[in-house]
Amino acid sequence: MTIGQRKLGRTGLNVSEVSLGTMAFGRWIDQKESADVLDAALEAGITLIDTADVYGSGMDKGNPLETGESETILGHLLGERRHRIVLATKVHGRVGLGPNDAGQSRYHIFRAVENSLKRLQTDYIDLYQVHRFDEQTPLEETLRALEDLVRQGKVRYIGCSNYAAWQIAKAHGISGQLQLERFESVQPEYSLIARGIEQDLLPFAVSEGVGVIVYSPLGRGLLTGKYSFGAQPPAGSRGAAGEQRLHTLLEKERNFRIVEQLKPIAERRSWTLAQLALNWVLSREGITSAILGASKSHHITETLSAIGEKLSPDELRDIDAITNGVQPELVVK
Ligand SMILES: NC(=O)c1ccc[n+]([C@@H]2O[C@H](COP(=O)([O-])OP(=O)(O)OC[C@H]3O[C@@H](n4cnc5c(N)ncnc54)[C@H](OP(=O)(O)O)[C@@H]3O)[C@@H](O)[C@H]2O)c1
Repeated sequence: MTIGQRKLGRTGLNVSEVSLGTMAFGRWIDQKESADVLDAALEAGITLIDTADVYGSGMDKGNPLETGESETILGHLLGERRHRIVLATKVHGRVGLGPNDAGQSRYHIFRAVENSLKRLQTDYIDLYQVHRFDEQTPLEETLRALEDLVRQGKVRYIGCSNYAAWQIAKAHGISGQLQLERFESVQPEYSLIARGIEQDLLPFAVSEGVGVIVYSPLGRGLLTGKYSFGAQPPAGSRGAAGEQRLHTLLEKERNFRIVEQLKPIAERRSWTLAQLALNWVLSREGITSAILGASKSHHITETLSAIGEKLSPDELRDIDAITNGVQPELVVK
């Protein structure tokens, strides 16, 4: 098992093709469990770690005052290892009750970055991402604020998440015109049950040299086969913990039909479904890194143990037929 390194879009930055997502830290797992997951990921060769200022126990309760635990735990656990990884975090979500405690105004970004740096116990963030598009703030204001953070040495690269292709194109236009830093990466959802980015965003990113760091490659756990349609989620899972966006996936019978049809493809290779789901994502043109989530260290070691093994053209064709990809020709690195 060797985790490769890929360039982040057109930049010179190397990031691991699999990254660790830490949305579970402080939300579903405590500091000890988080330490086990982090150690397993770093030992396996993962060098890109993703978090966000909003990740924490308040997410399932809709409480903006309980945010930031993921960054706090990560800051506590990383120690010297911080300097050997690429650390990515995000700004935008609501982190307080005040009128400027969310979004992408200069006011909020400047305060949010200081709070993230403090929690992460570092004086720089390698990749600072805006968490989604902010319709209420001029892009120019956001980009100028981010540019200032880069000039101040607090941020190395800037990226966006959950942006449509046209929104990045608009931002790039402003960055080019005003000679500001541009979004070098985008973080969308992508998996065997969520292939929407193939229509527009992925071809755009390939064409423009934008790094694509995808989240939920295992469909939030659905693509591990642990859930059954209409049944109670297994104890200890995120489904049982009530994650809203996972429940939306669990309500769609289509997703379970896909899982059932993928099982024989995984079984023929003696792979788990999770290994198939991850290797498929990594085989797609334009993908820089897949952000794995985990609540146990063995999740990481198990899912990564088949990494580097390539799917055959026949398997890719079968998978396209099962999952209804919109661009079956966009395959294989
Ligand atoms: N930008 C955004 O808007 C956004 C949104 C979502 C996520 N993200 C980022 O992407 C990261 C990953 O997202 P995700 O956690 O949804 O990704 P995921 O990899 O699709 O799902 C991870 C979940 O799958 C289950 N799992 C993983 N490996 C397993 C294995 N070998 N066996 C059994 N179950 C396994 C675990 O569920 P259980 O915990 O239930 O066991 C784990 O929490 C997040 O941490 C975050 O950094 C970003």
